[in-house]
Order: sequence, then C-alpha cells, then structure tokens
Amino acid sequence: MAEEALYKINVLNANNFRDLRTNIEYQLQHKKDKFVVVTSSNQGEGKSYCALNVALAFSEAKKKVLLVDLDLHRPRLSKNLSYSYMGIVSIYEEAHDYKDCLTSIAENVDFLPSGYVPLNPSEIISSDIVSNTLHQAAKDYDIIIIDSPPVRLSPDTKFIISEFKNVLFIVRANKTRNHEVEEAFDKMKLINPSILGTVLNMKKFSKKERMLYEYK
Ligand SMILES: Nc1ncnc2c1ncn2[C@@H]1O[C@H](COP(=O)(O)OP(=O)(O)OP(=O)(O)O)[C@@H](O)[C@H]1O
Ligand SMILES: [Mg+2]
Repeated sequence: MAEEALYKINVLNANNFRDLRTNIEYQLQHKKDKFVVVTSSNQGEGKSYCALNVALAFSEAKKKVLLVDLDLHRPRLSKNLSYSYMGIVSIYEEAHDYKDCLTSIAENVDFLPSGYVPLNPSEIISSDIVSNTLHQAAKDYDIIIIDSPPVRLSPDTKFIISEFKNVLFIVRANKTRNHEVEEAFDKMKLINPSILGTVLNMKKFSKKERMLYEYK
C-alpha cells in the first residue's frame, strides 16, 4: 500500500486526516464541486504528504479518488508513486488519453503522474488540454485532489487555482513564517480562491496533548 511504503502515518495523524476529510466533504457537497488544490507558501511544507493522505482518507470512506500531480517542477508524488513516464506532460504533448496514464495506488485511488519534467511547465499547466482533461475526469470520480507547487513561488499555482478554485492551504508548524502566509494569500487574492481549510502540518504534540487527543 502506498501509505506504508511512502509516508508512515500514525494514529493521531490518521484521525486528523479523517477529520479533515469530513470538513472537505461537507464543503464540496455544499458547493457541488469535486476539486481540491493543495498548496502552501514554500517548498517542503507537506503539500504532497497531505494530498496523498487526504486521498487515502477519502478512499477509506469508499469514495472514488483521483490524485493528480500538477507540480511539474518538483513532482515528488510521481517519483514515489509511479514508474511511468506517461502523465500530464504526455497528455499535453502526445495527446494520450488520461486513462492510459493512471496508476492505482490504493483501493479506490487512482494517481495521475506529472510525466517527465518539461521545459515549459507554465504553458502546460495553463493549457486547455490540462483543464479539459481534469474536468472530463471529474465525471468518473467523486473527488479530485491536485498536488501543486507553492503558490508564493510559482505562477503555475495561480493558474491551477483560477481553474479549480478550492484550496487546501498547508502551513508547516514552527517553520512557515507569518509574512510568508500573508504573501501567499496576497498572491491568491485576485483569483478569488475558495479556501476549504488550512492545515497546521508537522505540529509536534507533547505526551499529554497526545493522551488528550487520542480517543480510545
Ligand atoms: N505530517 C507529516 N508527518 C511526517 N512527515 C511529513 C509530514 N508532512 C510532511 N512530511 C515529510 O516532509 C517532507 C516534505 O514533505 P512534502 O514533500 O509533502 O512537502 P511539499 O510541500 O510537497 O514540498 P515541495 O514544495 O518540495 O513539493 C517529506 O519527506 C514528507 O514525507
Ligand atoms: Mg510536493
């Protein structure tokens, strides 16, 4: 299973992701929408980790999930979850059907990798081909989770958010600075995102806090 091989997850974490799933599910139902764009201010704050674990939490609830790697600069999920060179880039350049690029990573979870690293990521990300492909895929899935680059640093993410709207914003505990969060929200302001939630990731809990939160 993907979560065993890649990112070991503890009970506290798993419960947090289930809780997050409920919050996201409620909001998406209300909006009649299926897309979630995962982003943050900086590199290494846990976007890919959270995207994968939210996907797994939805699969636990028997939802059909498509996890998409739209971080064409640092496609970490693709490196870890797929050996295929076929993905977003080959859909764009070689007109592959997205269904031929999928890897099943868990029960009910398909993964659409980035494909090889391109020279023109922004052109690909902002293309109609990519947005049409994902809107077409939305007919086959209950939820589509999109891993993206940090919005403060990459213009690609603004294209992704302007197309798919719903943002799950990751903040890394004791690392992401206030002004970096402000800058990220400033960048998103003009494209009018719908913020589904903010995750405080990698927070270290004391033993006492763990005992309080770990419901038996
Ligand atoms: N909650 C967590 N618990 C344990 N490890 C985590 C957690 N969140 C992230 N990590 C680990 O931290 C590292 C960075 O996480 P990740 O690759 O998801 O960040 P990212 O924001 O996607 O970075 P990039 O901008 O480079 O794509 C990874 O090794 C990941 O496994
Ligand atoms: Mg990442």
